[in-house]
Amino acid sequence: MARPKPQHLLSRHLARHSVAVDLGTANTLIYTDDGGVVLNQPSVVCFRRHVEAGQTRVASVGTEARQLLGRAPQNLEPIKPMRHGVIANFSAAEQMIRQFIAMARPAPRFGRRAAFTICVPAGATQVERRAIREAAFAAGAGTVNLIGDSLASAVGAGLPVSAATGSMVVDIGGGTTEVGVIALGGTAYSGSIRVGGGQFDTAIINYVRNLYGVVIGEQTAEHMKKTLGTALRDVPLETGKATGRSADDGLPRTIELTNHDIADAIDAPLRQVIGAIKTALETAPAELITDIATAGIVLTGGGALLNHLPRRLTDELGVTVRIADEPLTCAVRGAGQAAEAGLVDAFGFD
Ligand SMILES: Nc1ncnc2c1ncn2[C@@H]1O[C@H](COP(=O)(O)OP(=O)(O)OP(=O)(O)O)[C@@H](O)[C@H]1O
Ligand SMILES: [Mg+2]
Repeated sequence: MARPKPQHLLSRHLARHSVAVDLGTANTLIYTDDGGVVLNQPSVVCFRRHVEAGQTRVASVGTEARQLLGRAPQNLEPIKPMRHGVIANFSAAEQMIRQFIAMARPAPRFGRRAAFTICVPAGATQVERRAIREAAFAAGAGTVNLIGDSLASAVGAGLPVSAATGSMVVDIGGGTTEVGVIALGGTAYSGSIRVGGGQFDTAIINYVRNLYGVVIGEQTAEHMKKTLGTALRDVPLETGKATGRSADDGLPRTIELTNHDIADAIDAPLRQVIGAIKTALETAPAELITDIATAGIVLTGGGALLNHLPRRLTDELGVTVRIADEPLTCAVRGAGQAAEAGLVDAFGFD
């Protein structure tokens, strides 16, 4: 557990152009100091197989590649290179970052000495951190600093990170949930679980198969989560339709699902998220917890947008919970701003 560091270290400014990258399980974002968020795309890269040569080449990335997930013809192979916030497929990740940098608009103004700041989950191992660092070098970075997702998200959410008072930020992404307590510009507590929106989607797929005997795809499950999903069961009934394949005869079948179905389906991963926040409240230094009880908890990441989540968490934790402005871009904006303020050099991970 890192101790908060002295404040005089916080005011150093970086002279060269800096580029911040949030290489997320679900989405990759790039931020530059002069252009703001210059890229925001799904973390997917699609390769085209060349049968004769036995080679593959990048066919598409981002939104275009994502549309092919689960529906690609045989010569195309869409890949999600990130899992639980870390690289699961190194060469695919490197190619994806390279393409994204080329696609960023306005194009980042950097030469060979570009300073990259990349967000990583607190739970990433040394090997996983090295892989992220090396993928960035291979994609053209001059220097690479890593910053914890929680610190980046807290800065992006506009929390008073340099103050002596503690702030708690919970980032619920596609494959991880990060709970951080920030004070004096450093991370006083950080916890990370490998549960995020992707695990909510899988829980919906399993629930629908077990209860209705219908196998739905990942994108359908995610759509149901976003439209019908609710963190509270005690809300008026709503319904929606989902089409999948009957587990009995393999034929297409459309079923009606309710928001209560989705609430039941996601109950287990949601409890894991709540458990991670409770652990943080029980473990973080007592003085900082007093601050958090007063200031409340701030949610970032796409998972924060689950309907009624702040109310459910407030009820369970007895602490006010609110969603940050623009929760999906907090981490990358915060990483960029932290680099500009010199917070990353002083407090970044090795
Ligand atoms: N309205 C919504 N309701 C519920 N979940 C949502 C909503 N909008 C987005 N999400 C979920 O948020 C997740 C993506 O969030 P985000 O972009 O913050 O993740 P990430 O940074 O790529 O992942 P990680 O930080 O875990 O590596 C997806 O699982 C997506 O389904
Ligand atoms: Mg994230």
